[in-house]
Amino acid sequence: MISKTMEKLLNEQINKELYSANLYLSMCSYFKDLELDGFANFYRIQSKEELFHASKQFDYMHDVGGKVTMMAVDAPETKFKSIIHVFQLTLEHEKTVTSSINNLVNQALSESDFATHNFLQWFIAEQVEEEASISNLLKKLEMIGDNSSAMYLLNAELGQRTYKEKSAGSNN
Ligand SMILES: [Fe+2]
Ligand SMILES: [Fe+2]
Repeated sequence: MISKTMEKLLNEQINKELYSANLYLSMCSYFKDLELDGFANFYRIQSKEELFHASKQFDYMHDVGGKVTMMAVDAPETKFKSIIHVFQLTLEHEKTVTSSINNLVNQALSESDFATHNFLQWFIAEQVEEEASISNLLKKLEMIGDNSSAMYLLNAELGQRTYKEKSAGSNN
C-alpha cells in the first residue's frame, strides 16, 4: 500500500510521461514534414519509450494498491524553429522529468517507502541515459552546423534506431 501523497505524485508522473509521449510525437511530425525520416524515427521511438514509462508506473500503482487517476494531458509544443531547437527543448524537458523523478525518490525516502524507492531506481538510470543521448546528439548537431552532407549522414544513422522494450531491472 502506498501513501496518498505518493499515489498523487505517481499519478502526476504518469501524466508527465504521457505528455512526453505526445511532445515527442509532435517532434516526430515536424521531422516527417521536413522529410527527415531518420530524425522522425528517433522521435517516434522516444515517444514509444515514454508510453512504456507510463505503463510501468500504471502497473506499479496497481501492484501496490494505489488508485490510478487518468488526467487530461496538456497540449505539447507544435512549432519548432529548427532541428537544433527541437533537441534543445528535448534536453530541457528531460531535465524537468529528471527533477520530477528525483522528487519522487525524496518522497519515498522521507516515508521509508522502500518498495517505491526501489521501483524508481530504474527511472533514475533511464533519465541518466536519456539526458546523455540527447546531449550527445546536440553536440553532433552543433558540429554539423549547416553542413548538409553531415546532416544527411546523421539522418541515416538515426534511421537505424529500433525500439526494444526494456525489461524491469535492466536498463539496456
Ligand atoms: Fe519518461
Ligand atoms: Fe524521457
